[in-house]
Amino acid sequence: MDRDTTKTKFRQILLTKKALSSYIANLAEQIKTTYANNDKIIVIVLLNGAKRFTDELFGHINDEKFRLRYLTAGSYNGAESGGKVTIAGDIGDVAGQEVLIADDIYDSGLTLSEVIKKVEQARPHRIRTCLLLEKQTRHKKKITIDFKAAVVPDCFVVGYGLDYNGQYRQLPFIAELDLADQ
Ligand code: IMP
Ligand code: MG
Repeated sequence: MDRDTTKTKFRQILLTKKALSSYIANLAEQIKTTYANNDKIIVIVLLNGAKRFTDELFGHINDEKFRLRYLTAGSYNGAESGGKVTIAGDIGDVAGQEVLIADDIYDSGLTLSEVIKKVEQARPHRIRTCLLLEKQTRHKKKITIDFKAAVVPDCFVVGYGLDYNGQYRQLPFIAELDLADQ
């Protein structure tokens, strides 16, 4: 992408690739330490947004005791949270297990709270949460975030797995999208 395209589509780059990689490496260390005494952790990755950062995160951790499973969760349409959360996929048997739910961003909290509700019904031993980003906004649902890489201001961000109508996921940085320019 050339500089002019970047200038018109994005208001600002909030997190560079270098910053993200260092935050994710740091997150990997925190997670390893927290689960040092556990021998099996079911990680539920919420697609599509959390795919990229969890690939990197669990590449760092590089330990087979983390068992990755995938669910598709979403409520967004463009830059508007639809309010109704849809969850697709099978979490498998998590009864009595350590569960770590990983998502891309904590915005209203609706998505995560619905996923947590669904996982709780399957009676795990404990649920922790791991986020690439927390948006500085008034969360509609308060959720305990156990691990997070970075905080972003209350704006619409894209890149590193986060999209706008399926676009910009592949960007190697997190940028504020200029919605007026879409
Ligand atoms: P929540 O349910 O409002 O917390 O939103 C969580 C989901 O909405 C995330 O998993 C993202 O997929 C999406 N989302 C929220 N804010 C943004 C954003 O700024 N950019 C891209 N996707 C977002
Ligand atoms: Mg998502």
